[in-house]
Amino acid sequence: MTILITGASGNVSGALLRSLPITDDVRVLVRDPDRAPGVAGAQVVVGDLERPRTLGAAFEGVDTLWLLNAMGPQAPHASMNALWAARQAGVRHVVRLSAVGAAHDAPTRNGRLHALSDAELMASGLGWTIIRPHFFMQNLLGSVQGDTLYGGVGDGRLGFIDVRDIADFGARVLAAPASHAGKVYTLTGPASISLKEAAERLEPVLGTPIRYHSLSEREAYQAMLDAGLPEWIAAVNAEYGTAYAGGWGDFTTRDFPDVMGRPARPFAEFARDFSGALRAA
Ligand SMILES: NC(=O)c1ccc[n+]([C@@H]2O[C@H](COP(=O)([O-])OP(=O)(O)OC[C@H]3O[C@@H](n4cnc5c(N)ncnc54)[C@H](OP(=O)(O)O)[C@@H]3O)[C@@H](O)[C@H]2O)c1
Repeated sequence: MTILITGASGNVSGALLRSLPITDDVRVLVRDPDRAPGVAGAQVVVGDLERPRTLGAAFEGVDTLWLLNAMGPQAPHASMNALWAARQAGVRHVVRLSAVGAAHDAPTRNGRLHALSDAELMASGLGWTIIRPHFFMQNLLGSVQGDTLYGGVGDGRLGFIDVRDIADFGARVLAAPASHAGKVYTLTGPASISLKEAAERLEPVLGTPIRYHSLSEREAYQAMLDAGLPEWIAAVNAEYGTAYAGGWGDFTTRDFPDVMGRPARPFAEFARDFSGALRAA
């Protein structure tokens, strides 16, 4: 079975490649071969999801597609091009990385764009599985400065998930896609916690008191622009912050433990394993 992995140079698909048992049948799609992750045994193919004419050879002979689209207003276009190429190449199953709460009436434009692409995949005639992860724990890398954790979610609680668990889950689905056909999974961590509670869990790991400083939507938006994020991404992240501050993300699901037969990693484990990166700022 040949699996094509998109988004291979990014966070989730990069972790997926570390979770997946690599065989000669894993192919990674990159725009720039210099950015291809060094994965032993995987074949690197070049293509741009925004330029469908570049995709034919990359998709040829593929049985299962792992479809991840970068955040941005172009995402539904890139997703459509991938389904277009998949259909022409005879791909049998698409596992799509969507987002928590994807819906036509979602409180963020990212959630609404994901809903468009989820709906297109569901109606595509291809086999499909949709994975909707909650807020990544790894989003907090770069948010600790000195003794302060900065965030724009107020006192809202979130069912944070570790990207490594999304990767492990994706690898499980890719190993037997037919048994996950027609399923929508919403992945959360084991607990819904606030950033104040996250800061408390960081203290023993970082060895210093950490306080949470809540940024207003405007402050968070400006801080993300100052950090160099594109305007669309900063604005959408601020939209998520407002939704989370209002309690929109305060839930957990059983989808991860029910499929994996183990609990998802708690925040404290993420903090311990990423202490070096969390300390870096
Ligand atoms: N952050 C969260 O809390 C969260 C939660 C739920 C869902 N999500 C979803 O997760 C996804 C982002 O995942 P991520 O963080 O792993 O992304 P990421 O690290 O930003 O990586 C994006 C990947 O897409 C590739 N890419 C971009 N444009 C492309 C194109 N035109 N053709 C082919 N490849 C292209 C990039 O390759 P290059 O190296 O060429 O740039 C990169 O490998 C989004 O759909 C987001 O909505 C995020």
